[in-house]
Amino acid sequence: MLRENIPDLAKMVEPDRVRREVYTEPAIFELEMQKIHETVWIYCGHESQIPKAGDYYQVQIGRQPMLMVRGKDKKVHVLYNRCPHRGNMMCGDRHGNTGEQFRCSYHAWTFHHDGKLKNIPMMDSGYAGTRLNKESPELSMKPAARVESYRGFVFASLAKEGPDLKTFLGKSIVAFDDMCDRAPEGEVEVVPNCFRVIQHSNWKLFMENQIDALHPSVTHQSTGRAAHEVEKAIAKKAKAGEALSYHMLSAFATVTIDKWDNFQTINYPYGHCILTGYMGLRPQDPDTKAYDKIMIKAYGQQRFEEIVGVNIHHVLVYPGLSVQSPLQQLRAVRPLGVDRTLTEIWHFRLKGAPEPIYRRSLAYYNLVNSPATLINADDLENFWKCHQGLSSDGGDWVSFARHYGHDIEKPGEVSSAPNQGTSEAPMRNQMKAWAKYMRA
Ligand code: FES
Ligand SMILES: [Fe+2]
Repeated sequence: MLRENIPDLAKMVEPDRVRREVYTEPAIFELEMQKIHETVWIYCGHESQIPKAGDYYQVQIGRQPMLMVRGKDKKVHVLYNRCPHRGNMMCGDRHGNTGEQFRCSYHAWTFHHDGKLKNIPMMDSGYAGTRLNKESPELSMKPAARVESYRGFVFASLAKEGPDLKTFLGKSIVAFDDMCDRAPEGEVEVVPNCFRVIQHSNWKLFMENQIDALHPSVTHQSTGRAAHEVEKAIAKKAKAGEALSYHMLSAFATVTIDKWDNFQTINYPYGHCILTGYMGLRPQDPDTKAYDKIMIKAYGQQRFEEIVGVNIHHVLVYPGLSVQSPLQQLRAVRPLGVDRTLTEIWHFRLKGAPEPIYRRSLAYYNLVNSPATLINADDLENFWKCHQGLSSDGGDWVSFARHYGHDIEKPGEVSSAPNQGTSEAPMRNQMKAWAKYMRA
């Protein structure tokens, strides 16, 4: 039905460019929600967000308001946030604890943590002789079709059919392994709050930007330059290492486009991408040395070297997640409309790691994401301006031609060529996956 209303999808995506309507047409957005976000595996949250029975968190999957909830049996369930009686939203708060049961605020139907009906007031007399009895499945809160967790990271799919989570993640699973392996206890736990940012543009602009190695030294140049000045001034008087926060920012200016070309992107069939090249260094300050010692004790020298040697800057799990595993942070993308996108930016503690290591990743998290940072503001301004330009009649196409024709294709992956880290291969790959999902 919807398909008839939208322009011919086959004409929208070419290997090196896409039509602007892909970002601006509301009917295409609706179809994306059905065919992509409400079909594939979407990140719900981390198990440590809901440690106790009855703990829940709201999560948006496509257009569907869902609840991630911990059951008495310790299992994590993902349910539609909807009462099966007359549709009342079951939980109004973003997160909390529902106690022994869910209890609808409208007519007091109650449900177990897995969504199964527990009780309806005066069920026997009220529903005798009707189509409903206690066993009717439509009297329970509807669960997501599939829920799986990997190393504490919970995903749900609203489609019954499809690859299992591990198959879907493929090589991008390294994001979660890299993050957890860097913890002496092999696990991370969420820091219980996130930044929530709404950008006034289409969700795909965000996903493209996360692996856009061409933009940091331009978009974030002014911020990086200013930080570099302060970093130099501090270095003159203080001991080395004390300017790490400024160094994290100045890298945006000092790592110029030609240096970004040294990095590499590796792209995968479901639209995922890995950007290799870790900018975070391996400093030799006392805090890092103390951490290294604990890690060596936990894993042995050889495994420790393997873990800290993982060469990853960023992992994109299409269509809704961007993970910076060496810095223990991730951004979950929740499309709200064709021109509005929410990102939830979470960070994690390495279990068993000393406090200064946490404070370092917290510093980075705040430096690039907080409402006060210029880094995120620079990106957000670009997103908004892109959306304005794409909504105009100034042109019909978006170009992804950088280094087109040079990518290296192997079965199951496409890499940017050596010294072409700023290739637009990730955008071409995302749109290729997008077209496949949309035609399915
Ligand atoms: S709408 Fe929930 S009990 Fe009536
Ligand atoms: Fe950026």
